[in-house]
Amino acid sequence: MTADRPSDSTVIVDPSQTESVEDLREEISRLRTQLREAQKLMSVGVLTSSITHEFNNILMTIINYGRMGLRHRDDATREKAFDRILTAGQRAARITTGMLSLVRGNTTRQEPTRLVTLIDDVLILMEKDLTNHRVTIEKRCDGDPWAELNASQIQQVLLNLMINARQAMDGGGRLFLGVGTDADGEQATIEVRDTGCGIPPETLARIFEPFYTTKTADDRGQGGTGLGLSLCRDIMHAHGGGIRAESKPGEGTRFLLRLPAVPAPEGLRTTSALPE
Ligand SMILES: Nc1ncnc2c1ncn2[C@@H]1O[C@H](COP(=O)(O)OP(=O)(O)O)[C@@H](O)[C@H]1O
Ligand SMILES: [Mg+2]
Repeated sequence: MTADRPSDSTVIVDPSQTESVEDLREEISRLRTQLREAQKLMSVGVLTSSITHEFNNILMTIINYGRMGLRHRDDATREKAFDRILTAGQRAARITTGMLSLVRGNTTRQEPTRLVTLIDDVLILMEKDLTNHRVTIEKRCDGDPWAELNASQIQQVLLNLMINARQAMDGGGRLFLGVGTDADGEQATIEVRDTGCGIPPETLARIFEPFYTTKTADDRGQGGTGLGLSLCRDIMHAHGGGIRAESKPGEGTRFLLRLPAVPAPEGLRTTSALPE
């Protein structure tokens, strides 16, 4: 069989391209995953400096109490030294476990997760960065809600919101994190509220658009991709949940996340992989 030779003006349809809609869908989905991964690593990059400093502090504590324990032979001093070393070591372990679970989590598997634990795991990573920028943290839990979710992805959403909040509070402020359920108990909610610069209405209408940003990258290349909130929205939709924002310019901004609530699995107190 010989193919017709097309004239100059003919549009050639390559038979292999007839599958192209499917191929393109797959390609888009692959690129989305890559983008999410890249964005996650950027958030991790923002935290690297504060976490490295925190580690240094922990090591100094361990070294100093180790020395103290060796120098003083009495039980009380040694017990105190061991106690401080253990606490410091456990804190370091929580930080590395949290970081690894965030970075490694590249599946999309969702499972019942305790929101209070999820927030605490993110705070472990974010705490130092916030206090370094003179941001105080307030946390409130109304009940003990669980939701069906992918922990790494929702942590990524929370990191994005908290980094945005910190960037909006130049000179310090307060970050409020709230966990609860809506009136009929169907939806679990997470609130992230700041006392930052706020968002004027014309900007608020656009913040979830991909590539929309009001920031210029700082000297460490942070901020200004405009991808954070659009990825947050994608992740929340993939969970059958949602995200919305309210803001008062000059006073602050509030983001509210909704996730389908699930009952706590029987006999299971927590899904956190962190050491006790
Ligand atoms: N907590 C906040 N306070 C004030 N403005 C915010 C806050 N969160 C997001 N924004 C606005 O939304 C825009 C888009 O945010 P985002 O998608 O995370 O991109 P980026 O952080 O790279 O600018 C920001 O540039 C900023 O103008
Ligand atoms: Mg951002």
